[in-house]
Amino acid sequence: MALKHFLNTQDWSRADLDALLTQAALFKRNKLGNELKGKSVALVFFNPSMRTRTSFELGTFQLGGHAVVLQPGKDAWPIEFDLGAVMDGEAEEHIAEVAQVLGRYADIVAVRAFPKFVDWAIDRQDRVLKSFARYCPVPVINMETITHPCQELAHIMALQEHFGSSDLRGKKYVLTWTYHPKPLNTAVANSALTIATRMGMDVTLLCPTPEYILDERYMGWARDNVDESGGSIQVSHDIDSAYANADVVYAKSWGALPYFGNWDREKPIREQYRHFIVDQAKMALTNNGVFSHCLPLRRNVKATDAVMDSPQCIAIDEAENRLHVQKAIMAALVAQGATTRDPGPGTRDR
Ligand code: CP
Repeated sequence: MALKHFLNTQDWSRADLDALLTQAALFKRNKLGNELKGKSVALVFFNPSMRTRTSFELGTFQLGGHAVVLQPGKDAWPIEFDLGAVMDGEAEEHIAEVAQVLGRYADIVAVRAFPKFVDWAIDRQDRVLKSFARYCPVPVINMETITHPCQELAHIMALQEHFGSSDLRGKKYVLTWTYHPKPLNTAVANSALTIATRMGMDVTLLCPTPEYILDERYMGWARDNVDESGGSIQVSHDIDSAYANADVVYAKSWGALPYFGNWDREKPIREQYRHFIVDQAKMALTNNGVFSHCLPLRRNVKATDAVMDSPQCIAIDEAENRLHVQKAIMAALVAQGATTRDPGPGTRDR
């Protein structure tokens, strides 16, 4: 059996995702366990975090394991990812060694590596995450690269709790772009589109212009998912009709892919769309809809204070659920790791 990683939910069967959500609900009721007793987790952060780092560290502890945080280029050596590189620049070691060594110490390796925001054709390869998965002899978890699968499960868990049902089919779901002063990662938007369609919801991607439509890989996943789940996917640039009768409003800002790396050109375009902010007037158009966001969120830029402080906002529940779903993911990965430890490319070469 091939070593199973948690790189994208799309790689996992619906039954496996449902099992993770069920286990996460159990962990929510019973915080402590032994599923990671004697196990260690290496958390590799190339970018900042509040929720992800805290929930992975504490979640590992709560299941009897130990987590270590590494920040390459800060408290760990900078890493080279190019095969065949002549390493006479900043990087002190190659991913081939880093991933294999971490895999000898730890039972799980988790990675956060945002895009470089220069060339989407390169960033969309997700090379850092895939390199860890390639060289690591133990399971690898995506802590956000160009998708954010842990956030996906936490989001779905919060929706299931809110609606009192694991069956979200037929819910009208709006993923709305919002303004932000910086061009942000598309990861959470890619993920929201992926998981909402996987769960069979009727999904509207609301964004200012066609330039803000997400990468074709994720639009394609969404179409594949609705073929299977019975949901639907549409793109809208009309705020009122998108919000009308929505059951779920999920907000995120992202940079328009045609301007990737040319953000000075996108900035005056983005400035025109500050009115995409989620406010009470828009939420009043919904079917008493629920609002959420992955956080961090700039208040009164992406959503108003009134929306954030309303009973319709479940962003804090979603953030809490990061802890529970990640415990479920780690428990599932170490359970399969007991029988499937990849010896790694270095070992195979000997
Ligand atoms: N939602 C999320 O991943 O939060 P952090 O960036 O704080 O980890």
